[in-house]
Amino acid sequence: MAWDKELISIHEKQATEERQIQEGREAMMPAFLEALNGDLSREYSAAIQYVQHAAVMKGAAFDGIREELLNHADEEFAHAKKISDRINYLGGVPTLDVNSNMRTSEDSMELLRLNMELEDEAIARYTERIEQSNEMGDYGTTNMLMEILEEEQEHRNDLITSIGE
Ligand SMILES: [Fe+2]
Ligand SMILES: [Fe+2]
Repeated sequence: MAWDKELISIHEKQATEERQIQEGREAMMPAFLEALNGDLSREYSAAIQYVQHAAVMKGAAFDGIREELLNHADEEFAHAKKISDRINYLGGVPTLDVNSNMRTSEDSMELLRLNMELEDEAIARYTERIEQSNEMGDYGTTNMLMEILEEEQEHRNDLITSIGE
């Protein structure tokens, strides 16, 4: 084959591959956006739960932890902002729904345990979401999700430390 024909054939192959990636991404997008909206509604509820828990937590021993929980609330709300922007950027409509899985307790240690459950769920969900965005070849979204996942893991570690104190 002449070099110019060979070059054309390489270009055609690349174009076909790019089209296939694009088609794959489009096919996965509706389910991905729905899952991201599920993450978003959980970020709102996590922020609310942390604010409530920080307010009702009793005892001087929990003073430092209360402050930590309020920091978590701010960070969950910051996650909600990032995810809303990303959903909009990807062509979806960010939800206004707040997930109704919030829980509270009169027992301060139980409050910490409830937050652990919430962080475990967030870690599992973002791990799955990162796999999906990777498969879609969306590296911008993958990076954003990895930053959020790292903070959820920090939240979990903060809670483990608090429970140990
Ligand atoms: Fe979060
Ligand atoms: Fe978190």
